[in-house]
Amino acid sequence: MSRTETQEAALEPELARTSASVRDYWDSHTLGFQYVSDPTIEPGTAEFFAHIRPWMNPYKFPWIMDRIERESARLRGKHLLEIGCGMGFDSLEFLKRGVRVTATDLTPNAVRMTQRHFEVEGVRAEDVRVENALGLSFPDETFDAVWSNGVLHATGDTRRAIAEARRVLKTGGRAIISHFYRKPSWMWTIHRLGRENIEYKEEDPPVNEFYTDDEILAMFEGFRIEEAAHEHHRALPAKRSGLKAALYHYGFKPAYNALPERLARKWAYKLSVTAVKE
Ligand SMILES: C[S@@+](CC[C@H](N)C(=O)[O-])C[C@H]1O[C@@H](n2cnc3c(N)ncnc32)[C@H](O)[C@@H]1O
Repeated sequence: MSRTETQEAALEPELARTSASVRDYWDSHTLGFQYVSDPTIEPGTAEFFAHIRPWMNPYKFPWIMDRIERESARLRGKHLLEIGCGMGFDSLEFLKRGVRVTATDLTPNAVRMTQRHFEVEGVRAEDVRVENALGLSFPDETFDAVWSNGVLHATGDTRRAIAEARRVLKTGGRAIISHFYRKPSWMWTIHRLGRENIEYKEEDPPVNEFYTDDEILAMFEGFRIEEAAHEHHRALPAKRSGLKAALYHYGFKPAYNALPERLARKWAYKLSVTAVKE
């Protein structure tokens, strides 16, 4: 049995089925491919990663890069686990700043792309491998930090994924978990009204849970919360086309984006949490 199969087999049957559908979805939708505008570029080449880089999280959202810089300054020489690394852009930035990194993802395709990405960038990780956030194969108290961006609310059992992150952290270790989907928020309202996720062009991921801030913070049992920040407080361009997308684009988006910052921030659709294991 592969590690993924062993990890899946250890889950309750319903969660194992959910996790398998999450894996199938992400294995054919590795985050990054949707930004390719020139299909002649060979995936996995230096040119390919440079082509999609401006659209990836740390380069598109300055607060993510700021967080990587702040955390790297603390974690230089220490060991960070990334859960759900996608094509490895976040891990790459930690590696460049002297942090030791183990990068993991549920899907073999993401792991292959990350390995390739590190090769073309000439950086060396401690390990890059398939792991399921719901049942990590690392011993207790292995890492100084866990980084996960846009992942744990999409696993099928967010509470369990946070508990796993806590288990593999050393006492005093840092969990930096960004971009939980919030409710109430502008995205949650749009999502409910239109029964569509405006972020994805084609098929939506099988799981994307929305939580209130209190629900998210309550899942950080055994942690001291250091920061909980509202992010994405402005409406994004819609990835889809058609009537609903046009209503969103010409109606909701300009009206919402005209709101004063303080008000808009209340309706931000993502929450990022930095917490320390007690
Ligand atoms: C929205 S993408 C984010 C990728 C990356 N963090 C980024 O920001 O570019 C979600 C990622 O989470 C991974 N993922 C989903 N469920 C997972 C699980 N149970 N364990 C580990 N990774 C998971 C997916 O394979 C996918 O690569």
